[in-house]
Amino acid sequence: MELTKDKIIELLSSKDDSLFKMADKVRKEALGDEIHLRGLIEFSDYCKQNCLYCGIRRDNKDCTRYRLEPDAIIDLAKKAQGYGYKTVVLQSGEDPYYTVEKLEYILSEIKKLDLAITLSIGEKTMEDYAAYKKAGADRFLIRIETTDKDLYQRLHPNMDFDNRVRCLRDLKTLDYEVGTGCLVGLPEQTIESLAGDILFFKEINADMIGIGPFIASPNTPLADEKRNNFDLALRVMAVTRLILPDINIPATTAMETLHPNGRIIALQSGANVVMPNVTEGDYRKFYALYPGKICVNDTPAKCVGCITGKINSIGRHVSKTKGFHNKAKN
Ligand code: SAM
Ligand code: FES
Repeated sequence: MELTKDKIIELLSSKDDSLFKMADKVRKEALGDEIHLRGLIEFSDYCKQNCLYCGIRRDNKDCTRYRLEPDAIIDLAKKAQGYGYKTVVLQSGEDPYYTVEKLEYILSEIKKLDLAITLSIGEKTMEDYAAYKKAGADRFLIRIETTDKDLYQRLHPNMDFDNRVRCLRDLKTLDYEVGTGCLVGLPEQTIESLAGDILFFKEINADMIGIGPFIASPNTPLADEKRNNFDLALRVMAVTRLILPDINIPATTAMETLHPNGRIIALQSGANVVMPNVTEGDYRKFYALYPGKICVNDTPAKCVGCITGKINSIGRHVSKTKGFHNKAKN
């Protein structure tokens, strides 16, 4: 559906809940009732960046740091495959410990398991992205966070908006399936700029969009910016679905953190993907981007059973395919 910026602003500003029904209908017509599960492996919370909102930012001295050795990451991927996942998402802070060689080893070993692999490890060079792709990575997630350039520069010290966009374009050139997205409810973020974010998703030709409500994190410069951004994030997600009917849109963990039924509500408002955590033990707790993270005391086995039950309870089912946006790859 084509929507002008003014129309998007109107939809985001309104209180009318018919938006969610409309997004659900568009999702159903384009994608049917299947839901793709992606097993999320949070393999390191070391980060050289210092994003003002982020609980694992470099300057947060209260964050317990950990990193998993390559073989431990491969082991988690094997377990994920055992639980029936068709995709694993490898996510971390920007941690230089994982050299191209280490990642090539991890990716090529996981590839032998016939899993689709998504990376979410931040900004790298075109050469690095090409090496990961060659070693087996299929998809890459890197949120633009906000398309308000001034706000972006204030929130991301020593980072550069144009480089973030460069990453997205390089990944597209390299034939990755590319996921981006934004945070919703950041201090000084406007509805106009959120509308700009949605138009940017279309312009960049994204294959996946993750919308996260911003949640104030202790020991960060934005710790006092507490507000509940669930409703607005849901609206941004639903409008994104109207504009991009057949892309993959996750019901994000941050949504469930703000609302006890957040992921199911999101799945009924345009989303078609869930990313349950397959990280084990205390590491779940240590990878703390924001407070109140869900399932920190659960096991990966419990999470897959729990989410599958919820999905079935709303008349949807878990897909048996890898869930590529490009159906020819499934
Ligand atoms: N380092 C990689 C990167 O920058 O793309 C991946 C990891 S990063 C922690 C993953 C996402 O967490 C970010 O894109 C950001 O949107 C989200 N995030 C970080 N802090 C958050 C917060 N306080 N509330 C909600 N989401 C947050
Ligand atoms: Fe690096 Fe958040 S500041 S992952």
